[in-house]
Amino acid sequence: MKQENSIIQGDCVAVLADLLKEQGGKGFADLIFADPPFNIGYEYDEYHDKVDHEEYVGWTKKWMKACVNALSDHGSFWIAIGDDYAAEVRIVARELKLVMRNWIIWYYTFGQSTRKKFARSHTHIFYFVKDKKNFVFNDEAIRVPSARQTTYNDKRAHPKGKVPDDTWILRPQEVTEAFEPGEDTWHISRVCGTFKERAGFHGCQMPEKLLARIIETVTNPGHLVLDPFSGSGTTVVVANSLGRRFIGIELSEQYVAQSKSRLKDSESLFDTGS
Ligand SMILES: C[S@@+](CC[C@H](N)C(=O)[O-])C[C@H]1O[C@@H](n2cnc3c(N)ncnc32)[C@H](O)[C@@H]1O
Repeated sequence: MKQENSIIQGDCVAVLADLLKEQGGKGFADLIFADPPFNIGYEYDEYHDKVDHEEYVGWTKKWMKACVNALSDHGSFWIAIGDDYAAEVRIVARELKLVMRNWIIWYYTFGQSTRKKFARSHTHIFYFVKDKKNFVFNDEAIRVPSARQTTYNDKRAHPKGKVPDDTWILRPQEVTEAFEPGEDTWHISRVCGTFKERAGFHGCQMPEKLLARIIETVTNPGHLVLDPFSGSGTTVVVANSLGRRFIGIELSEQYVAQSKSRLKDSESLFDTGS
């Protein structure tokens, strides 16, 4: 594709329509990972993140439909969303005839502290496919040590461990010498101020480990990974380093410029073409 391995500035609905036209109407993305604004009043440089409920749901339908059109027949569609709109996303997905494979809870530490209600420490991550029989799922890429292996010494245990649960945190008994002590390999923290990977210009930066797990599971090297809300560029950076082709779409010119330089500075296996 002409625009692959780049971050495109623009509105994702319009850009996806153009890309689809270019492909003669045939879905082209093997994985779409979408982390849209949650309609919670977060401050982005261009997008206004607090609109009417109906407007937000209407827009959600539009961009989800554009993503479904851009998805290849064997592709998977992942959506990160907060509590306020998780139910609506599930309903829209059903209307679009997507097949839900997992409703993942990403539990993270360092949630905000509160006084009058419980502090939120999770995000919903939906994993949908177009076709319930035709999809990629590389279980061997993401197996973790099982309690059968580490605690019960059970001979029936799969030698490569188990596929992680749909709550993404590694329980302490699953931490073995296979993982660096102190390095929270599977217990995926939010990206904090002190983290080396923090790019510093975007408050919603997703952890690279979370994207790596998704990309390695549902794509093969050479597949095309698309992020319609690219933000700080986490998805494209990780896709690039794992030998996948990529397209990022982002509304803000400033984020596009900054994420392009993040991409250049990242360890890449390919020419970034940016
Ligand atoms: C939650 S952030 C994504 C963060 C990203 N996952 C990361 O790791 O940096 C959402 C992004 O969507 C962008 N955005 C909002 N509306 C958009 C649109 N219509 N098309 C493309 N990007 C949009 C915002 O500017 C913001 O950077």
